[in-house]
Amino acid sequence: MTLSHTMRAVEITEAGGPDVLRPATMPVPVPGHGQIVIRVAYAGVNRPDALQRAGLYAPPASASPLPGLEASGTVVELGPNVTRWSIGDKVCALLPGGGYAEYVTTHESHALPVPHGMGMKEAACLPETCFTVWSNGVMRGGLRGGERFLVHGGASGIGTTAIQIARALGARVFTTAGTDDKARACEALGAERAFNYKSEDWAAEIKAMGGADLILDMVGGSYLPRNIRTLADDGRLVQIAFLQGPKIELNFAELMMRRLTITGSTLRPQSDAAKARIAREVETHVWPMIAAGHFTPVMDSEFPLEMAAQAHARMESSAHTGKIVLKVEA
Ligand SMILES: NC(=O)c1ccc[n+]([C@@H]2O[C@H](COP(=O)([O-])OP(=O)(O)OC[C@H]3O[C@@H](n4cnc5c(N)ncnc54)[C@H](OP(=O)(O)O)[C@@H]3O)[C@@H](O)[C@H]2O)c1
Repeated sequence: MTLSHTMRAVEITEAGGPDVLRPATMPVPVPGHGQIVIRVAYAGVNRPDALQRAGLYAPPASASPLPGLEASGTVVELGPNVTRWSIGDKVCALLPGGGYAEYVTTHESHALPVPHGMGMKEAACLPETCFTVWSNGVMRGGLRGGERFLVHGGASGIGTTAIQIARALGARVFTTAGTDDKARACEALGAERAFNYKSEDWAAEIKAMGGADLILDMVGGSYLPRNIRTLADDGRLVQIAFLQGPKIELNFAELMMRRLTITGSTLRPQSDAAKARIAREVETHVWPMIAAGHFTPVMDSEFPLEMAAQAHARMESSAHTGKIVLKVEA
């Protein structure tokens, strides 16, 4: 197949608000060793894209400077040593960047088959959230069936994924969200109880039930001492972002007295091998949940690629529930 040399894309013209995202024409990327080129059907929009746009989350040196951490599409070119995929395969993939474009490269081991019966739009929403939730909630946080699991930001892309995966594992899920409507949406997805954090004391209520065995948190800031108070003895807190900031004064004595664990990770800077390991686990454990109907991405809205700025504005308004996607294919 002969690809054209240039493609439609959306670039970050300078660090700033959503309007620094502008349509552009770029060279089609060339695959390196073990990489595939995907003709993008849909690209998922994630909060880290907005951080990158604002100049707060630099891409790794080897990654495309274009935003976009996940996409669905068709394999159109194979780099040297690619063994798993063939031209024409339909995939969804975790990307080091570059998803806001007609073509993108990624390591072949970071792509997964589009789940049977799922559309390209939904498939584009799977990689970033599934990899993040599985690697932090299960591989790092050790979530097991029967445990009380608190996920903050329950109506987010990450949160709606975490609720469903944790329910499928048999955990008891509790969550927080910023409105009553979002809280009810989280309960409809399987949360046993969702708290409106603006009007309810989630920490006191969960503590009264015995505390959370595991907390997945993206808020940080003032949530840190409350999370620690909310954990059951031997509980674990996994930090995946700091929407309220990473710095706070904290008394660590409780960690020692109640044998608590605080950890965290971020996906993008990890090695190809580490991401491949997560991809294998996601395919082994999460893809069967999708096939069994236990998990389906919650879709908020779709924008054409050229309206990426509007997609970011919606995400940063926090009016959304679930995932926002860009339609890239013409
Ligand atoms: N560590 C990793 O590898 C990794 C990977 C992907 C994403 N992340 C992080 O995970 C988070 C969710 O990502 P996403 O793509 O799912 O984004 P998203 O859909 O935009 O979710 C963010 C959610 O955070 C809540 N929120 C925003 N500001 C808040 C505040 N000040 N206090 C409390 N809640 C607040 C909002 O919910 P309400 O309206 O209910 O407040 C919103 O739904 C982001 O912070 C992102 O950076 C981390």
